Amino acid sequence: MALVPSLASTLNRRIADALSAALPEAGAADPLLRRSDRADFQANGMLALAKKLKGNPRELAGKVVDGLPAGDLIADVEVSGPGFLNITVTDAAITNTLAARAADDRLGVPVKEHPGTTVIDWAQPNVAKEMHVGHLRNSVIGNSVVRILEFTGEKVVSRHHIGDWGTQFGMLIQYLIEHPHELDHKAEGEVSGEEAMSNLNRLYKASRSLFDADDAFKARARRRVVDLQAGDEETLALWQRFVDESKIYFYSVFDKLDVEIRDEDIVGESGYNDMLAETCRMLEESGVAVRSEGALCVFFDDVKGPEGNPVPLIVQKSDGGFGYAATDLSAIRDRVFNLKADTLLYVVDVRQSLHFKMVFETARRAGWLTDDVKAVQLGFGTVLGKDGKPFKTREGETVRLVDLLDEAIDRASAIVRDKARDLGEEEIAERGAQVGIGAVKYADLSTSAARDYKFDLDQMVSLNGDTSVYLQYAYARIQSILRKAREAGESGPVAHPELALAPAERALGLHLDQFAATVAEAAEEYAPHKLAGYLYQLASLYTAFYDQCPVLKAESTELVENRLFLCDLTARTLRQGMSLLGIRTPERL
Ligand code: ARG
Repeated sequence: MALVPSLASTLNRRIADALSAALPEAGAADPLLRRSDRADFQANGMLALAKKLKGNPRELAGKVVDGLPAGDLIADVEVSGPGFLNITVTDAAITNTLAARAADDRLGVPVKEHPGTTVIDWAQPNVAKEMHVGHLRNSVIGNSVVRILEFTGEKVVSRHHIGDWGTQFGMLIQYLIEHPHELDHKAEGEVSGEEAMSNLNRLYKASRSLFDADDAFKARARRRVVDLQAGDEETLALWQRFVDESKIYFYSVFDKLDVEIRDEDIVGESGYNDMLAETCRMLEESGVAVRSEGALCVFFDDVKGPEGNPVPLIVQKSDGGFGYAATDLSAIRDRVFNLKADTLLYVVDVRQSLHFKMVFETARRAGWLTDDVKAVQLGFGTVLGKDGKPFKTREGETVRLVDLLDEAIDRASAIVRDKARDLGEEEIAERGAQVGIGAVKYADLSTSAARDYKFDLDQMVSLNGDTSVYLQYAYARIQSILRKAREAGESGPVAHPELALAPAERALGLHLDQFAATVAEAAEEYAPHKLAGYLYQLASLYTAFYDQCPVLKAESTELVENRLFLCDLTARTLRQGMSLLGIRTPERL
């Protein structure tokens, strides 16, 4: 069993049926069912419909009420105001549907019957360069979208399109040839991510200053680029050392971020080298691209520069070099024809939107993207400092991602230490990392990706408000109640549909019932923030329930059991939801 229809969807269907019976000419009309403060649900669909068909909305609503089947779902329904319906469902229906969710490992979230294949491009840092706060976003959002899509049953292939190719490697490789021991390690596997990055930084700076100061070196470096592009073996072997050194660093950062990356999914720009010439030939032969001042270009009616002159996508430069566009076009061919993707998703900064618009359009003209293949850039906004400007250090430099993560972990560890005095240092460190990294991820995921957001650690690790810490505490608090109940040895979580529910229990229950629908929406729209919003509301409703309804001290055994059941389902829903965001839920905090 997986699919558990929510009360809202069952109710929606019943009203829709009654509506089309009452008004056959309306066809399959949507009753527009919403959660409501007045009753459990409100349906507004009759208003617009009656207006459209020149009928009386209240009359229509009355007919719909008469047409609703009697049964154990609806406790009360009334026509209200100009003609909407207020509907209250029975307590038993709520408890029964939650029991069905609780009986399922997947909490009633269905697995797609016909899954597609999504190739998702995410977490794409650049070789020999430090990861900065922009790479936080493509890693965190990408990771969550992968988890959400996989949970719905979609086949997901990750591609980490790292920047591992380009003319700067000529300079680096040439320098390494002339200073051969600069990347040597004491022993295999002995180098940390930090050391690897500092080796690369040192080499980069040294080769850069030599390149700028010494014309003979500059010439040698330029020849080295040609060797690299020609696939000269010695040159490639040295290039590989830079890639390997960078990967040591990348993995250390991903590890800290608690994001799992698989080596076979790292297919950087260089991975498409063999396809570039063919991609260009195909584009030129089909007339999609044309030569313009020696360069191979694709033009667009709606892409113009400030003076109204057309701005082309350049697939091959006039010197014969291939750039970012040729690589992305080749990657599309690979992803569509070899990986058999029907969706291509790119988690990349919105500032690259024009690039992707032109690349997608070119691929459509070339016939590589057809109507059967969806190509989407999930563009994310900029991380801002407290001053509302792009996040920089006090010295005006880009912020190193590692520094930021370390600071978050430090702050969180202090809070954990403060709260739980009985924890050992090792546990504090582990939970501090889970809380700190969770806080950073949650802040990133809880606003819609396209928007910019302010990086504010004080807010992120706050115990109150829309933060992961608040959610983690809610989860840990529930675990502690469940533990206490187990220790007392009397009752555990058992659903009792015969019991009446308090208002706070109903509100919590109806929200729990929306989990599957929320996951579906987040997957459909690539919108982890919808899930984050749902979870925050879940924790808030739980807090209200906990304040209003004693659990272990409830008056009867049945009541204790039913409340423990609500606690348990809330915890499992929080845990599953947080895991889809890539955030841990420690059992104790
Ligand atoms: N490496 C690029 C950057 O750091 C992002 C690559 C995005 N992916 C792509 N297929 N172009 O900005």
